[in-house]
Amino acid sequence: MGIVKKAAAHLRSGGLVAVPTETVYGLAADASNAEAVAQIYRTKGRPDFNPLIVHVPNLDVAQQLGTFNSLARTIAEKYWPGPMTLVLPKTEECKVAAAVTAGLETIAIRCPKHPVMRNLLNESELYLAAPSANKSGRISPTTADHVRESLGTDQLMILDGGACEQGLESTIVAVREGGYQVLRPGPVTKEMLIELTGQQPIEVSDAKIEAPGQLANHYAPSKTVRLNVEQAGPEEYHIGFGDVPGDLNLSETGDLAQAAANLFAFLHFADSAEQSRIAVAPIPENAMGRAINDRLRRAATRS
Ligand code: TXA
Ligand code: MG
Repeated sequence: MGIVKKAAAHLRSGGLVAVPTETVYGLAADASNAEAVAQIYRTKGRPDFNPLIVHVPNLDVAQQLGTFNSLARTIAEKYWPGPMTLVLPKTEECKVAAAVTAGLETIAIRCPKHPVMRNLLNESELYLAAPSANKSGRISPTTADHVRESLGTDQLMILDGGACEQGLESTIVAVREGGYQVLRPGPVTKEMLIELTGQQPIEVSDAKIEAPGQLANHYAPSKTVRLNVEQAGPEEYHIGFGDVPGDLNLSETGDLAQAAANLFAFLHFADSAEQSRIAVAPIPENAMGRAINDRLRRAATRS
C-alpha cells in the first residue's frame, strides 16, 4: 500500500498524521472524530480554547462547513488552493467535533495546495483538522525533522515532503458583515487583499483576541530574541538579512519570500547553536515582511 493510502486509513481509524503543506507541517486528524481531535490537543499541549483550522480539498466541500458571502467567495476563488484561511460563520449542518471550533460560532477553513496534503484529503475523504505540528507556543515546523524534534514518538506517523515552500503559516482572514479582518498576517499580504477586494481591512483591536494563536508570546524559542540588530554581541547568534550578513543570512538579496521560507528553520537552528541568545537583523515592514515581523515580535516576547 502506498504511504498516503496508509496514512488515510490511519486517519479514518482515528489516528494522527503529520503532513507537509505549502506553509508549515500540520498535525492532522479527522475533524468529525471528537476523540481524534482531543488527541491533537493532548499531543500539542494546546489550550482547549484555541480552535483548529479545518482543511478541505475544494470550495464545494468548504461550503458544507462555512457560510460564504460574495466577498468570501471572491477571496477563496483567487487564493485557493493556497496559504489562505477563511474564518466564516458555521453552517447548520457543519459536521465537525465541537472542540475543533472551541465553542465559537465561526469556523476556520483552508484549502491547501501541497500535493501530499491534497492527496491525503482526496484519499481519506475527511475534513482534516490540522494545527501546526509543534508543541503549543513553540516555533512552527518547516521540515519533517522539526516535527520529529518537537512531537516525535514511535507512534506518530510523519509524511516527509521536504522543506515547506512558504515557511510561514497561512494568512487568516475573518469575513464579517461589511468587510474583512486580517487575524494573522501571512503569505497572502494585506496589499494583495486590498487589490483583490478594493476594500481596506477592518482593524482588529488588541482588546479582542479572537485567534488565541495570536497571543503575544507565541513562537517562543527557548532563548531570548533581540530584534532590529545590525551588530550582534559575542553571546548572540545573529540571523542576518540583506546587507546585514549575520551568522546565517535569511536572504542576501533582501528577498522577503526567501526570508520567510528560511525564518523558522533558522530560528530552530539558532535555538540549538552554542550562543546563549539570538539576535535578528531589521526586516522591512512591508508585504511579506509584515508577516515575518509579526512572528519575530512574538518570538521576542517573553511571557
Ligand atoms: O498554514 C497554516 O495555517 C497551518 C497549516 C498546517 O495549515 N496551520 C496552522 O494552524 O497554522 P494553527 O493551529 O497553528 O493556527 C490556527 C490559528 C490559531 O491562531 C487559531 O486561534 C486560529 O487559527 N483560529 C482557528 N479557528 C478560528 C476561529 N473560528 N476564529 C478565529 N481564529 C481561529
Ligand atoms: Mg501554530
